[in-house]
Amino acid sequence: MAHLSNRNIIIGVCGGIAAYKAAEIVRLFKKAGASVRVVMSRGAQEFITPLTLQALSGEPVHTELLDEAAEAGMGHIELARWADAMLVAPATADVIARLAQGRADDLLTTVALATPAPVFIAPAMNQQMWLNAATAANVATLATRGAVIIGPDAGEQACGDVGPGRLLDPEAIASAVSQTFDTCDLAGRKVVITAGPTREALDPVRYLSNHSSGKMGFALARAAAEAGAETILIAGPVNLPTPPSVRRIDVVSAEEMLAATLDAIEATEHDVSEVGNGDTGSSAVVDIFIAAAAVSDYRPTAVADQKIKKAGAQLSIELTRNPDIVATVSNSSHRPHLVVGFAAETQALDHYAADKLTRKGLDVIIANDVSRSDIGFNSDSNAVSVIDSEGGVELPTATKQALAVTLIAQFAKRLNTATTNSAGGPVH
Ligand code: PMT
Repeated sequence: MAHLSNRNIIIGVCGGIAAYKAAEIVRLFKKAGASVRVVMSRGAQEFITPLTLQALSGEPVHTELLDEAAEAGMGHIELARWADAMLVAPATADVIARLAQGRADDLLTTVALATPAPVFIAPAMNQQMWLNAATAANVATLATRGAVIIGPDAGEQACGDVGPGRLLDPEAIASAVSQTFDTCDLAGRKVVITAGPTREALDPVRYLSNHSSGKMGFALARAAAEAGAETILIAGPVNLPTPPSVRRIDVVSAEEMLAATLDAIEATEHDVSEVGNGDTGSSAVVDIFIAAAAVSDYRPTAVADQKIKKAGAQLSIELTRNPDIVATVSNSSHRPHLVVGFAAETQALDHYAADKLTRKGLDVIIANDVSRSDIGFNSDSNAVSVIDSEGGVELPTATKQALAVTLIAQFAKRLNTATTNSAGGPVH
């Protein structure tokens, strides 16, 4: 269950005899390194106390839709956005029916409706209720909409009946959720990602920079490594831990970032045949390059040796254009099969992004609106448009980690399709 590490999981617990098993489910997710927040229906609280699940999750348990204290802290919409996945376990026949209808008449159904994260449903009910055509239709509706149904198991039931409807074993439930984070599509591939801001020195104590925290690029690096890729992360000055299995190279300025990127892109020790994509003609040693860094477009032409002293009411600083890292990579003789840029825009998002796609020679550009405070720079969430020469697809607000998993899965698919079809040429 390694893929649950650092994931944000909401566990929705409904009122059924199997509710007591939610304690074991919460414990397993926590043990696997996930952050867990529990939402309980009123019925669930008759079977197991919120205090038990609070103690196991280490977080306050959420029970009310309209709760002043919660709304001041993590209200239902924040909770829905926070999640990388939502698991409803046990899911009763009643909650399955209400979810199928899109009802939002308690906290659990509201969060399920509002979350952009994948929803998993682990049913638990009497076998006759499970076999009823109404339940079957509701389950089919939810599955058609993308919910993942886990179980149920069959066997002896608390009511004495024997048949399908038992909650699946907690280990099997946790493992099913974990597997969705394991795309494993990039085994044997090499991915290079830039992240964070650059700093362009003015003098020994001052610099030009921007608000990038590196979170988006680091999330992509983690998702790429989890998908099996050899991952190199070229990071500007940020305050983030290195994701597991990622090789990190720290840089400060745009020029340093370019040099480190070209070193990684043109590395000769990584022979093309090791890439494992059947490539015959390309000299690419890297499969995917993702430019998530917010690189300063300009740097001071001269860096003062000593701290610049105050003099006069105005100070002019001459700036020199920095090299464009992603465009340089795209034009390199070692051009990776897939070159992906980001576009940070405050207006006319798709228009400017499409222009950068062409101008910088990219295969894909990910456009994000950095005028919003809830997404983009430094926030934990983002909402993006994935744009290529065919058009754009919007990915709604989700945690940067969840978006990164989706994006990496999309890039892997493009790469695998393109290298199968064309024996490894650039993916346009
Ligand atoms: O780091 P976070 O706080 O998580 O925020 C994420 C983010 C908003 C920084 C990220 O999602 C993002 O949008 N990154 C790109 C920011 C940016 O510099 O955009 P741009 O439109 O100025 O540049 C377009 C593309 O060219 C980018 O891929 C950029 O990395 C690249 N570029 C730009 C200038 C330059 N000299 N070299 C480059 O490679």
